[in-house]
Amino acid sequence: MAVIRSIIRGIGAHLPARIMTNDDLAEFVETTNDWIVERTGIHQRHIAEDGETTADLGVAAARQAMIRAGIDPIDIDLIICATATPDRTFPATAVRIQSMLGITKGAAFDIQAVCSGFVYALVCADNFLKAGQSRRALVIGSETFSRILDWEDRSTCVLFGDGAGAVVLEAQPQLGDRNDRGIIASRLRSDGRFEDLLYVDGGPSSTKTVGHLRMNGREVFRHAIQKISGIIEETLLASGYAADEIDLFIPHQANKRILDGIAKKLDVPPERIIITLDKHGNTSAASIPLALNHAFEQHKLTEGKLVLLEAMGGGFTWGALLVRW
Ligand code: UT7
Repeated sequence: MAVIRSIIRGIGAHLPARIMTNDDLAEFVETTNDWIVERTGIHQRHIAEDGETTADLGVAAARQAMIRAGIDPIDIDLIICATATPDRTFPATAVRIQSMLGITKGAAFDIQAVCSGFVYALVCADNFLKAGQSRRALVIGSETFSRILDWEDRSTCVLFGDGAGAVVLEAQPQLGDRNDRGIIASRLRSDGRFEDLLYVDGGPSSTKTVGHLRMNGREVFRHAIQKISGIIEETLLASGYAADEIDLFIPHQANKRILDGIAKKLDVPPERIIITLDKHGNTSAASIPLALNHAFEQHKLTEGKLVLLEAMGGGFTWGALLVRW
């Protein structure tokens, strides 16, 4: 039976030009390159210049995704931007991006699920497309986490970086069988009981300030492997595929040790995992599209490949998606 599926037509990414290495960090916070590499796998991160905003990074990524998809801005009728670092409290960064791209039709809004934001945004766009409400969506993950870091807190400031990634999603009829392209299955979860393990200590309604990121890294780490493995298993079960059928595993890039732990639990061989956090640290909602972009540029995302995306972030929120390229 014919079904509508959301196909990823194009991918783009953008990183700010300025690079901050671990050694650069060690000049102003008590840390070492060895500690950061050994405990996280991160070697460097990109930092936005003053005045270079989340929308600027998102627009650059979106433009590249549209060019690679061969789609004009005029053909886009939905923009979802996943971000926890918006340019302004309101309007939504997605609406700003819409205007910067010269798009005046369709709808644009932000999604706030922190590091799971891109997975949440993709699932949301997929549902708009499948419902027939939109035909072509820009799904963007863009962050300037450097603005919310406490640069004196070595337990968090070494982990995060700025960047953006985007995909063009298009509704296309498929046969409704195992060979279908596009988003095949997805699962989203959240549990607010864990709010105080990873949060920002400010906000318009509570403190009238922007605030800084706070994290109990050890506890987040403990939950991450268990929750991510669980949601992957649920997503695979819903799809009818087994873990050993996954061609490429594109995880949220938080910590190399978390990725190794999940891979071990699911028995995924290392060569099937895309790891980019060494180059840009944890970029929150931007990390999955940045990793997707890397895989695309390495010619690993060829037609027919079965790709698994997963993320977990503050809230907690977490989710996974299975996509046939
Ligand atoms: O994207 C959202 C999801 N976020 C995550 O998934 C992050 C999850 N957590 C982690 O990745 C890890 O827990 C961290 C990388 C944040 C920390 O690694 P850890 O192995 O859990 O270290 P720890 O927090 O247990 O700290 C070990 C030691 C401590 O010293 P003592 O108490 O043993 O003397 C810390 O003070 O390492 C110390 N430490 C550092 N030392 C040098 C903490 N940060 C640093 C640092 N440089 N930057």
